[in-house]
Amino acid sequence: MRKVPSQKSPFQQRFRIRPLKTRNPRKTVFVTGASSGLGHALAREYAEAGTKIGIVARRKEKLYALGDILSRAGSVPFVFTGDVRDRNFMAESADSFLKNAGVPDIVIANAGTRGNHLGSFDQDDKDLIDTNFHGVRHTILPFIPSLLAAGRGQILVISSLAAKLALPGAAGYCASKAAINRWAGSLRLALSPRGIDLTIVNPGFIRTEMTRDNPYPMPFVMDADEAARIIRRKSSSAPSELNFPLPMSLGISLLALLPDRIRESFLSRFQARLYLSWPPAP
Ligand SMILES: NC(=O)c1ccc[n+]([C@@H]2O[C@H](COP(=O)([O-])OP(=O)(O)OC[C@H]3O[C@@H](n4cnc5c(N)ncnc54)[C@H](OP(=O)(O)O)[C@@H]3O)[C@@H](O)[C@H]2O)c1
Repeated sequence: MRKVPSQKSPFQQRFRIRPLKTRNPRKTVFVTGASSGLGHALAREYAEAGTKIGIVARRKEKLYALGDILSRAGSVPFVFTGDVRDRNFMAESADSFLKNAGVPDIVIANAGTRGNHLGSFDQDDKDLIDTNFHGVRHTILPFIPSLLAAGRGQILVISSLAAKLALPGAAGYCASKAAINRWAGSLRLALSPRGIDLTIVNPGFIRTEMTRDNPYPMPFVMDADEAARIIRRKSSSAPSELNFPLPMSLGISLLALLPDRIRESFLSRFQARLYLSWPPAP
């Protein structure tokens, strides 16, 4: 049998680095948190004639309304109404999707929450970890055996630039996003040599239900549709991490490099201005 010459450079061969991929059609997509915001926009962004799209969230009406939109775009929607914190529900949904739509080309773990109590250090933190950390695990893990058997596929973990710094009033949110980024980074080490790509997506501010009532300015905020377009375009080369928008990402990196006392004095101004109600009065 004739050996097919390797398309990798000697450097890539030496260090077992896979070459960058070019954009290819995503025919089978599974996305959580699709009833609003970024997940809704991502499902529409990937909707093309013949695409099979699994959509997950708790709000049934919104999910079915999205299903209609996807059908009109020529896609085939598979609707799963439930909670990403529920491991059994997510395993059953993945199983049903695999049976009816096949192995996904891309799994997008997007569902997330910011919690209801900006500035608290207690009430929401468990819920934030349950949704933003365990919910992502529950989304990805049931697909791993099939992705490995197929030897292809991509996972997108929708995290946040908030993973990179301890930000005021967002202890549980920052912690949940930092934790999932480490978990996903470790998972990537296991999957990448076996042909599965994993990209951690860290967006800045996006105009969605999550940020609608934000009591602070949101520099470089973008629309969900724009964010979805960026994610689709830039994730097609399977980067390990995708941070955007650039000015916000650079700003966060710069803040992280500053000496702690200077950074904290800058951030604590926001803390003082915005989160006056913690700790609650006895
Ligand atoms: N907006 C921003 O500025 C921003 C910035 C960086 C990163 N992100 C990340 O982007 C992702 C999407 O957020 P978004 O801004 O689009 O907010 P959003 O409009 O509030 O959407 C959140 C989505 O997640 C779903 N969801 C939340 N908890 C769930 C649960 N327990 N089970 C199932 N689905 C659940 C919601 O659906 P149901 O309520 O119907 O279940 C909804 O579809 C999140 O991971 C967020 O952290 C957002």
